[in-house]
Amino acid sequence: MITEKFVIQGGYPLKGDIFVSGAKNSAVAILPAVLLLDVPCTIENIPDINDVKICMKILKGLGAEIRLLNQKTGKYFVSCGRVTDYYVPYEEAKTMRASYYFLGALLGRCHKARAAMPGGCPLGERPIDQHLKAFELLGAKSTLSGSRRDIVELSAEILTGTVITMDVVSVGATMNAILASVKAKGTTIIENAAKEPHIVDLANFLNYMGAQIQGAGTDTIKIKGVRRLAGNAGEGSTVDYCYSVVPDQIEAGTFMVAAAATRGDVFIHGVIPKHLEAITAKLRDIGVTVEELNDEEAVHVFVEPGKVLHASNIRTEPYPGFPTDMQPQMAVLLTLADDASVITENIWEDRFRYVKELRKMGAKIDITQNGAIVHGNSHLTGTEVNACDLRAGAAMIIAGLIAEGETTITDIFHVERGYSDIVGKLSGTGAKIKKI
Ligand code: EPZ
Repeated sequence: MITEKFVIQGGYPLKGDIFVSGAKNSAVAILPAVLLLDVPCTIENIPDINDVKICMKILKGLGAEIRLLNQKTGKYFVSCGRVTDYYVPYEEAKTMRASYYFLGALLGRCHKARAAMPGGCPLGERPIDQHLKAFELLGAKSTLSGSRRDIVELSAEILTGTVITMDVVSVGATMNAILASVKAKGTTIIENAAKEPHIVDLANFLNYMGAQIQGAGTDTIKIKGVRRLAGNAGEGSTVDYCYSVVPDQIEAGTFMVAAAATRGDVFIHGVIPKHLEAITAKLRDIGVTVEELNDEEAVHVFVEPGKVLHASNIRTEPYPGFPTDMQPQMAVLLTLADDASVITENIWEDRFRYVKELRKMGAKIDITQNGAIVHGNSHLTGTEVNACDLRAGAAMIIAGLIAEGETTITDIFHVERGYSDIVGKLSGTGAKIKKI
């Protein structure tokens, strides 16, 4: 087996321009959503990452036609006109978390769906009870089958709009409730919905195709079921619609932290500064300068010469709070602060596996009951570390960029699931990183 690694020579400040790709967590929901359309569509700004490749493999396996139209803009033609299957292959479902969106999309399309319980990053317990609750409230029956009882089977004679009150704020369950109800009979109301930009993006895409979804981005979403999703030019239209996926706020945030940690000076382009507010606020609190260039859809991140970075506490929360997906990267920056910072993780119970790896590099971090204390004034030294999950891998890269000497990162497939051309993008701003 070939094992690929990233090798980084630390100590070079990032300087220059980075362009952010489309959001992973939008693309992996919008692609399954095409199953609900009655016409083909074109979508651009789809990131070139492994989770998207798996999504496309599942779609093609179901009978969809997918053609790359423009590599540079990530533009694809997608048609699900010939899809008759509703079974997601076991291996593919297990490879990524977002395979659960095929449950909602297939249920909405053909009132039947079958997929294994989703895989994804090992972040502790990752139940899908709220997804199943939403499907059941809409009228579906769900059963678990297979020798490991890990295959979800859904079927419904009819899906009928209802009120779905989520017990926890869940991105995936909110998206799945939208997918399953967009063509249901009557009106569905999702209470205690998640508000992440990718939820708004999915709703915008579906509305663009003729859905009637109101309130995405707030905690109450109202979905009036429609019979057809044939585009806003009217039923039966054959017009070639193009939708653009929203920029990836976590990719942008990762580069913002990398710029700050290396005391660099970077313009990060193709972003929506509003989506970055929690990250921007935290960086400013630490002493990093962040300029929001709204007209240019960019942020400018730098650290003034001689500026001391300050400790700052972090509590992860659903959007618009500080994102859990930025917690490991921010922890690396906090190792450079002038004092200790407390991180409280409120979303995932096992999001601190990266701490063991950072300690190998000399970071001083204590694990607490639901968080960590990051002691500042650390001097990181390069060594071999593991990318335990996607964002842990991003944190290891940032650690490698600031460490003295050479850092080797293993299990980089985790990183490549969610970051498009990270080596190319970082190298373009002066980082010494290569994939071997
Ligand atoms: C999404 O996961 C993202 N993944 C994750 O990104 C991200 O960390 C997470 O949202 C939180 O922002 C995708 O969008 C594909 P949740 P998701 O349902 O939807 C509990 C990354 O690095 N919960 O919002 O699976 C759950 O245990 C990844 O890009 C239930 O109890 O997360 C957690 O504590 C990793 N029952 C909380 O809700 C349910 O049925 C939030 O989870 C569902 C969730």
